[in-house]
Amino acid sequence: MTRRMKVVGLGGSLASPSNSLAALRIALEGATEMGAETELLDIRELSLPMYAPDMTDVPDSVHRLCQAVREADGLLWSSPLYHGTISGSFKNALDWLQLLSDREPAYLTDKVVGLISTAGGTQGLQAVNTMEFIVRALRGWAVPLVIPIPQAWRVFDKEGHTHDEKVTEQLHSLGREVARAAVRFSSQALTTPDAQRAEAQIQPISEEEAEGP
Ligand SMILES: Cc1cc2nc3c(=O)[nH]c(=O)nc-3n(C[C@H](O)[C@H](O)[C@H](O)COP(=O)(O)O)c2cc1C
Repeated sequence: MTRRMKVVGLGGSLASPSNSLAALRIALEGATEMGAETELLDIRELSLPMYAPDMTDVPDSVHRLCQAVREADGLLWSSPLYHGTISGSFKNALDWLQLLSDREPAYLTDKVVGLISTAGGTQGLQAVNTMEFIVRALRGWAVPLVIPIPQAWRVFDKEGHTHDEKVTEQLHSLGREVARAAVRFSSQALTTPDAQRAEAQIQPISEEEAEGP
């Protein structure tokens, strides 16, 4: 029997209501349609402290974030566009994924990620592009379909609903795509030890990696 895929949505902002959270919820519906188990990690609800490398008393919210990401076969990330890039609170959540450096294989190796951004203006792709760099740095695989939502204030109401069927369908497609890709990625380890070694030499993320074997 094949294992049920898990798709974890991480996103939203400290704003309430949050357009990026609304978009994320809709994308997760697409993953559910494909039979995936889903979990939503709302940045506002998580209320994470600022990442500090030497923090000893790490709060439960950080453990919850890292555990959910560890368990995930696929991820959906959704950030607002802030000053031409992702928001500080979203980046801070991703900084906490440094705790996955001890995962074997490290960070997001062999996990697929779908990317969403919401913007007030006519662009959103800058935030998506930033997220794509981070996916790569964390050794993950971004699916080619991305959903930048311009003028999000036109798209979502205060309850986080949208009447824009095109956006709804695009977000559902992304959720389905991530769930579908997760099935393929989980069927075999795609990243070889060889590639992992080379990656660690080129772009070490942890001190351990920088020191080498
Ligand atoms: C601090 C701040 C910076 C922003 N910067 C941009 C920007 O550079 N370009 C843009 O199109 N929209 C910008 N916006 C608008 C947000 O991207 C937009 O309102 C988004 O939908 C907010 O998502 P949220 O409701 O999840 O916070 C900014 C909003 C804030 C609060």
